[in-house]
Amino acid sequence: MIKLIDDRDLARSLRTDVRAGLTAAPKQLPPKYFYDARGSELFEEITRLPEYYPTRTERAILTRRAPDIARITEAKTLVELGSGSSEKTRLLLDAMLGHGTLGSFVPLDVSEAALAGAVTALNHTYPGLTVSGVVGDFVEHLSYLPEGDNRVVAFLGGTLGNLEPAERAGFLAGLRAVLQDGEWLLLGADLVKDPAVLVPAYDDAAGVTADFNRNVLRVINRELGGDFDPDAFEHVALWDPDREWIEMRLRSRAAQSARIRDLDLTVGFAAGEELRTEVSAKFRQEGLAAELAAAGLTLRHWWTDPRNWFGVALAQA
Ligand code: AVJ
Repeated sequence: MIKLIDDRDLARSLRTDVRAGLTAAPKQLPPKYFYDARGSELFEEITRLPEYYPTRTERAILTRRAPDIARITEAKTLVELGSGSSEKTRLLLDAMLGHGTLGSFVPLDVSEAALAGAVTALNHTYPGLTVSGVVGDFVEHLSYLPEGDNRVVAFLGGTLGNLEPAERAGFLAGLRAVLQDGEWLLLGADLVKDPAVLVPAYDDAAGVTADFNRNVLRVINRELGGDFDPDAFEHVALWDPDREWIEMRLRSRAAQSARIRDLDLTVGFAAGEELRTEVSAKFRQEGLAAELAAAGLTLRHWWTDPRNWFGVALAQA
């Protein structure tokens, strides 16, 4: 396994981001810190919830289209950004191996725990495939992706939506810059739909997403010597119709303060004050095609489910 970031780098960016985010107005934290071992497990649990449609919808699209993707791309190397457990990727691996072109798979994820488990399982299932896990951040470490020819970079699950528009533009342009002409981006994008469907997907009845949301406070407590009481914050999910994104927030149930020892920082919260922990943007085909084009990527194929809830884009550099 290649480590582009180790625990010290992660600790350093956590310190910087937490200090910046908790001293900003309004307060915010980047979503990547949800995913310690517990957070990654909670996310896996979210993907199985009845309300959380994206994972199973994307899986259905990939099940149907994986043979097309293998045939069209003739991928020799599959790179997956933010791979997590790499569960849906098996559909692609099976199709690409079946097509006879694929030689290696490079999953990249910030969570070493999730990655290690995935690499072990994949080596077991696909003995002939070279699997090289990379612990890294998909925004920062694009330029370190292994060389290869005819690479397909998969960015699934709708994770692109965690970036704000300007960050998205930077990310897509950066990705285009590391691709050779003719190489591919396979992108999963959650689509704009009725908020009555969207909001429960981020505020499930069983409270798993609430627990996932509060996990970022447990990460700060453990990694930075914080004393947050996660239960003193209420989980909030809301749809912003102008920006067309879901926001997750943690709302302070009362006036309180939290001490973060390693930052020598005390953060005060007014009763009802909210801390933004994630944006999850939802897309439309035309808008996404325009964002891809602006980055120098051409949308070649667009696949959705019958309800038009989730889109899978195949774009070429
Ligand atoms: C992993 C970023 C795709 O935005 O839907 C799930 C994360 N947050 N429930 C998403 C998430 C709350 C998820 N992504």
